[in-house]
Amino acid sequence: MSDGPSASDGGAAPLLDHFGRPLRDLRISVTDRCNFRCRYCMPREVFGTDFQFLPRSEILSFEEIARVARIFATLGVRKLRLTGGEPTLRAQLPKLVAMLAQIPDVEIALTTNGSLLASQAQALADAGLDRVTVSLDSLDDAVFRAMNDASFPVAMVLEGIAAAEAAGLAPVKINCVVRRGVNDHTVAGLVRHFAGDGKIVRLIEFMDVGTTNGWRLDEVVPARELIGRLSAELALVPLEPQYRGEVAKRYGTAGGRGEIGFITSVTEPFCGDCTRARLSADGSIYTCLFAVRGTDLRGPLRAGASDDAIAQIIRDLWSRREDRYSELRSEATTQLPRVEMSYIGG
Ligand code: GTP
Ligand code: 5AD
Ligand code: SF4
Ligand code: SF4
Repeated sequence: MSDGPSASDGGAAPLLDHFGRPLRDLRISVTDRCNFRCRYCMPREVFGTDFQFLPRSEILSFEEIARVARIFATLGVRKLRLTGGEPTLRAQLPKLVAMLAQIPDVEIALTTNGSLLASQAQALADAGLDRVTVSLDSLDDAVFRAMNDASFPVAMVLEGIAAAEAAGLAPVKINCVVRRGVNDHTVAGLVRHFAGDGKIVRLIEFMDVGTTNGWRLDEVVPARELIGRLSAELALVPLEPQYRGEVAKRYGTAGGRGEIGFITSVTEPFCGDCTRARLSADGSIYTCLFAVRGTDLRGPLRAGASDDAIAQIIRDLWSRREDRYSELRSEATTQLPRVEMSYIGG
């Protein structure tokens, strides 16, 4: 039996970039807006009252997003992740999920701040969402409110997480961005709270995404250091990666029942296996989280381009792709212009 490409790969050879990396994941930003102002992502001084968010007419419709996702699936994409800004702020999100759920052989996930999940989790699950990742940087209410800079309480995010679990959106993952001197003293409490009850905590090194978040290397707590600190109370055992290109390095906890992941974009970059493309809310494709600019698909989509023509734009872009920003990060690269995280959804 042949192990060649399946019919859902369009029957074509797998699409590889310049370094031989396949295209597997599409992260779809459905809005550039958010109800939080996390200081590491959308600092209020920049994203305050005067900030010009995208006008409605520039944002892709659900039909346009679903069409792009279908085309990506024919090119090898197997995971769609909805992001923002905050994706649950986009009206009728379950309708989009239902459209994406029609695409064969793709997993649909959502990364959210959890603020609206209590009311939306069931409808999202009913529409065909497979799982959610909820950002929660601390269980200490004062620390969390300061980090989201919207005075949003921990309790409401916990309600959202519970609703996601009740709706079967499992395994629920909890993302925590760690900043030295801000929330690193509360990380052990967060891990202890969730480890062993089926939720997966991922500790993320503070990244130099965008140019507005005041990133400083001395605020990054290297995963190595966190592993050392946590090992004192949790017996951490490294686990094998589940698939090529997995972002988090996984460890088992609590006698094998729990799992935590470390996302080491700064201290141990994982560009070598990076299989992700990103679609901004206004229809540009970015082949790296740290890209300077994207490739416009909205223009061709609205000018009546065929699916084949759109697929060809993506093929050309991916086969030329040479991105490996995190591996090249240096004093010089951190000075370069870069797209903001809230615009392409992390
Ligand atoms: P899983 O499917 O659950 O493994 O999701 P994920 O880890 O790919 O997605 P999530 O949205 O939870 O992202 C977790 C963190 O990893 C966020 O801080 C992302 O910005 C970061 N991240 C995801 N993909 C990349 C990437 O390609 N490069 C870098 N540098 N960071 C990434
Ligand atoms: N560094 C690391 N992670 C970040 N996120 C947002 N900004 C940053 C940053 N500067 C995280 C969010 C969310 C995920 C999509 O990215 O907290 O969990
Ligand atoms: Fe909003 Fe997520 Fe950015 Fe925080 S990290 S401001 S929740 S998009
Ligand atoms: Fe992929 Fe760019 Fe992140 Fe490297 S820095 S893992 S190339 S998105």
